[in-house]
Amino acid sequence: MIIVKIGGSVLSDKKKKFHFRGDVVKRIAFEISRFFPEERFIVVHGGGSFGHPLAKKFGIREGLRDYSSRHGFVVTHLAMLDLASRVSKCFLENSLPAFPISSSSIFVTEEGRIIEGYLGTVEDALEKEFIPLLFGDVSFDKKKGIEIVSGDEIILYLSKEFKPEKVIFLMDVDGIYDKFPGGELIREIKGNDIRTLAVEGSAGVDVTGGIKKKLEVAMELVKHVEEVWFVNGLVKDRLSMAIVGNGIGTVVLP
Ligand code: IPE
Repeated sequence: MIIVKIGGSVLSDKKKKFHFRGDVVKRIAFEISRFFPEERFIVVHGGGSFGHPLAKKFGIREGLRDYSSRHGFVVTHLAMLDLASRVSKCFLENSLPAFPISSSSIFVTEEGRIIEGYLGTVEDALEKEFIPLLFGDVSFDKKKGIEIVSGDEIILYLSKEFKPEKVIFLMDVDGIYDKFPGGELIREIKGNDIRTLAVEGSAGVDVTGGIKKKLEVAMELVKHVEEVWFVNGLVKDRLSMAIVGNGIGTVVLP
């Protein structure tokens, strides 16, 4: 099994509200169609310019406070449903049955970390040869009432349960750089060596942590996954190459 994260910065230009790169998502779906159904996939996508600006506007990460936060919770979820529906249609156009599953319906968080999950629907979808399509979403949270559950947190949870061979993060840059901007691309790094890197930053509005958070997730992921790839989702064939195993990007190994 391979888990693919389509980062919000690949799906959309995070600087423009409700911006969607349909052509890019269709090409990503086409690349997956070269390997499906012989290879099983779970696809998780981020919030991009659909989720993040609304989560920020309504202060979702500040927790449940008043009517406005409830209103914002629904509005943010609806925007993510809209985005998931667009992504799913791009997959259908490539004969891939990507079935959207709302993260807010199957996961419960505590300060944004998933503490309970119901994976029966994901398992059923996989067993019946669908591609489960999950997405960063709002969540009901044990401590704060409401929160955001990021795609990366979802991938961590899924990886602990399903132990995929590979997790591939599609981003809008070629991989992880030792310094950004201006540094060198890191081709290969061991999970434990990630600590020595000093990277910061993310373009546009990001309420869930940017690259730094992603590297922390990668360190955790390599306890359960053999290869964690970071490749450029905006460049043709980079995903295919990572699937085959000779990718251009950064691979994190245990
Ligand atoms: C965020 O998901 C979801 C919302 C803001 C509702 P991610 O944190 O996975 O999104 P990206 O990939 O950074 O855009």
